[in-house]
Amino acid sequence: MAVLVAGGAGYIGSHTAAELVDNGEEVVVVDNLVKGHREAVGECRFYHGDLTDICFLDSVFSENKIDSVIDFAASSLVGESMSKPLDYYKNNLISVMNLLDKMKEYEVPVIVFSSTAAVYGEPENIPILETDRTEPTNPYGETKLAIEKMLKWCEKAYGIKYATLRYFNAAGARIDGSIGEDHDPESHLIPIILQAALGKRKAVQIYGDDYPTPDGTCIRDYIHVTDLADAHILALNGLREGSGSGVYNLGNGKGFSVKEVIDTAKKVTGHAIPVEITQRRKGDPAVLVASSEKAKRELGWEPRYNDLETIIESAWRWHSTHPDGFAG
Ligand code: UFG
Repeated sequence: MAVLVAGGAGYIGSHTAAELVDNGEEVVVVDNLVKGHREAVGECRFYHGDLTDICFLDSVFSENKIDSVIDFAASSLVGESMSKPLDYYKNNLISVMNLLDKMKEYEVPVIVFSSTAAVYGEPENIPILETDRTEPTNPYGETKLAIEKMLKWCEKAYGIKYATLRYFNAAGARIDGSIGEDHDPESHLIPIILQAALGKRKAVQIYGDDYPTPDGTCIRDYIHVTDLADAHILALNGLREGSGSGVYNLGNGKGFSVKEVIDTAKKVTGHAIPVEITQRRKGDPAVLVASSEKAKRELGWEPRYNDLETIIESAWRWHSTHPDGFAG
């Protein structure tokens, strides 16, 4: 029996597929390679295609014995979603609807779904609990929240069990340095900082230093991508063994400001990292920090690479050896 990893050539998907393979699972990866990289897919059966194409998806389900699905496939840039909301609704909702349709048809009983801290919008409490208000401030978060609700109704109607995982800031690279983060264009803080350390950018722009935080820059909860992968596997195995559906935050529960991340990266790389203070980026909450107590309690999850230095060291290992990403 195989695990279908949708979006398995992307950043978090490829790291999870690699961990699944290490755990002895048979893995089938589906990816349209719009953002993902073929080189990021290791020892897995690979299908190049789009989940919005139901005929293509049917061939994946009919040619494999799939017992579970992990779905990473999504358009996931907050800023882009503000200018292209229809693309986000179309890509994100239709792809999951098609997946669920095929799961229903082929009687696949469980799905682990990638959600995001963006479902909360401006948080009402720090650390954020799963039961806190969900009021997204961008279409990306709205589409993920809509899918979370869709999963709930599909469970009631078709009995498909789900684990929804709300990631905070995914960061770092596989500890063996074999795969890592490669977005084009890059918009995430840690890769941008490391590109500046490598001299591939003139400076890191700090988006605002007038937030109500101790040093004025935004605070985020950075979580190692392999720790996220571990949580998917625990959630998947839990569902297979009969645990109920659930929604879980995944973060380290510790926040770091943009300036603190830059200082840590200077220490790790030993390179100068020039900065420029610019305007705030639209839609950025000042502080996002997760409570992941529920995932620890119910999934038995314990992040292994939970200090910022280790996270940045792993990212540096990848970026310094692959300065042009997978193309390099
Ligand atoms: N930042 C900068 N300069 C940059 C890039 C980022 O100052 O060049 C700041 C941002 O303003 C933010 C922090 O660094 O305060 C982290 O930014 P990222 O773009 O790396 O990550 P986000 O917190 O914006 O986004 C992450 C995920 C999204 C998710 C979101 C939830 O990548 O998928 O958290 O809010 F939706």
